[in-house]
Parts: sequence; structure tokens; C-alpha cells
Amino acid sequence: MIDQLVRKNIRDMKPYSSARSLHQSGMFFDANENALGSTVTLEGVPELNRYPDPYSKKLRSALAKFLGIGDENIFAGNGSDEIIDLLIRLFVNPDESVLVVEPTYGMYKVAAETAGVGVETCSLNDNFQIDIPSVFNSTTPQTKLIFCCSPNNPTGNLLRAEDIKELCKKFKGIVVVDEAYIEFASKESLSKRVADFENLVILRTFSKIWGLAGIRVGYAIANEKVIQYLDKIKAPYNINRISSALAVRALAEKETVAEFKDTILKERNRMNKRLTEMGLTVFPSDANFLLVKYPTASNIAKKLAGESALIIREFGNKKLLENCVRISIATPEQNDVLLTAIKKLI
Ligand SMILES: Cc1ncc(COP(=O)(O)O)c(C=O)c1O
Repeated sequence: MIDQLVRKNIRDMKPYSSARSLHQSGMFFDANENALGSTVTLEGVPELNRYPDPYSKKLRSALAKFLGIGDENIFAGNGSDEIIDLLIRLFVNPDESVLVVEPTYGMYKVAAETAGVGVETCSLNDNFQIDIPSVFNSTTPQTKLIFCCSPNNPTGNLLRAEDIKELCKKFKGIVVVDEAYIEFASKESLSKRVADFENLVILRTFSKIWGLAGIRVGYAIANEKVIQYLDKIKAPYNINRISSALAVRALAEKETVAEFKDTILKERNRMNKRLTEMGLTVFPSDANFLLVKYPTASNIAKKLAGESALIIREFGNKKLLENCVRISIATPEQNDVLLTAIKKLI
């Protein structure tokens, strides 16, 4: 199935072979690096004068072990944003399209438009869940890839696993499920389901619960064929040595992650309660943010930014998000500052 879905030009092309994919050991005279050393160094990350491992094998292995899946099912990217872009370029021809289940993370559409492929959209239902008949009504024979996000940004809810499985069963293209926020959720990742569905691709990231948005590391969990094709088209050295080393180190910090999770979930509950008491509608969240609805358009985001330099995200009149803002859960002290400012405003 995957061979047939991949764009023909990619199936047929010869990939670039980088110096370090050809030779991993020996005395290197092959990559025009600076053998004398590096201008700056970073403790614990040796040989910054040398290109990194093209396949980030240590990182992929550490992730595979952490997740209990095979190394061959993991691809590491420069943030999950890179992988969104690669997936479109891998599967979708210019006369084909992606389907985006909205409202959701804006980059799926932007990446598709940048690649010059078509974009179809389909709305979540009033409970922010996938409506399967409406998804299939919105696809055309040219639809190659569906993007959905669970927990969804910005609505905060998990999509029903049964619906995603049904999509994977019935849709003849690729189903991408972006799980950037799954570590904050009350249900498990669908990552193990890639063994059941050849066309399922899960996206995860170090940018959220791991607190490492600054190092730009995301990963895909998928059928090994998909991973091999992603490797075929990616930039030669897409993950740098520093990011790779830090991501591997992070995976050992289970206690810190557990503490982050504990604090964020407690604060999520507290914020939800306080905002509800102020008369606002707060949607249930399985992520590290809350979607909050105001009774009327009140320009709250603009006012908070202007008067107190407190920055929240506003969605204007987007369908299902009318008069809504998204508030990321921060530290208890920062959350208090925001709560006080909102209370003053309304
Ligand atoms: C749903 C979703 N996916 C992906 C990303 C980007 O992740 P990364 O930092 O790994 O590129 C974000 C960032 O906010 C997001 O909300």
C-alpha cells in the first residue's frame, strides 16, 4: 500500500547519499568539515566540528525503547513541523490534496499550501469530534492524506480512538494523527496501533511536556516503509548533535516529566474552576491549555496584551471558535497574574 501511495518521482528517485551515511568510522577526509576543531564547544556534546549521524540512530533507539516499539518505526525530525512538511512532499502530488479536520493546528494547511497541493477542510462536530460521514463527504479521489490532531489544538479534547481507527480502515490514503499534547491526556497514545494500520502516522514532539521547544525535535511513529521513505527525502543531517544529545538525555528525566505533568494538570483544573466561576465557558481539556469562550466578543486578548503584556491566543470568528481564546497553562504564579487580570477585565 505505501509504495503505491508515495509519489512516483520519489519512489523512482535515487536519494542523496551523505558522507556520513556512506562511512561512519575512519579518518574523515570526505565531508569538508574542519578537522582542527570547533570555534565553540558544549560540555557533553563532543565533535561539534563533525556532521551528526544522518539517521539520529541513538535518539531513535532511545525513543523506541522508551515507547516500547521498534527502532524501524521511528523517524526523528527538526520539530514535528518538519515532518508535517515531509509527509506532504512524500505523498501528495500537485494535482492531489490533503484533508484538514478543523479547527486545528494551522501548519497542516500552510505546509500544504506551501507545497502547492490542494487543501480540503472538514469541520469537527459541535462536540469537537470527527464526524466520519462528513469526512468522507469532504474527500475526493485526489485526497491523499488526512490530518487530525488528538488532543486537538486549540479545542483541547482527545478525538475518539474508535473514529481514528475507522478512518484508518476506510480511507485509502495516509491518516496523520498529531499527538503533540498526548502526554497531558487521560488516554494512551495510539502509537502501538501503527502495527495494525499501515497508513497510520503518529506525530509526537519534545516541545510540550518535555519542555524542549527550543531544541526543535519531533518524531513520527509509523510503518517502517513510511519511515524508509521519510529517510529517503529528508535533508542529510536534519537533527543537529546538540538537539539529539539533549533529547536522549531528556528521556532519562522521567521524574521531572511526572512533576511537570502533575503541576500542569493541577493548574489546568484550578484555572478551569476559577474561569468558570467568573462566568466564562471553559471546554474540557486533555492538553496543557484551555479553550475559553466569552459571552460576547470582548477583545479580551488585545486588552490583556495592551494593558498587562499578558499574551493569550485569540481566534476571531473562526467556525466553532467564535469569541474563544486559548490559554496555555503556565506556572501557578503566572496563572494567578492572568486570572487576576481577566477578573479585572470582565
Ligand atoms: C498540534 C501541534 N503539532 C505540532 C506542533 C509543532 O511541534 P514542534 O515544535 O515539534 O514542531 C504544535 C505546536 O504548537 C502543535 O500545536
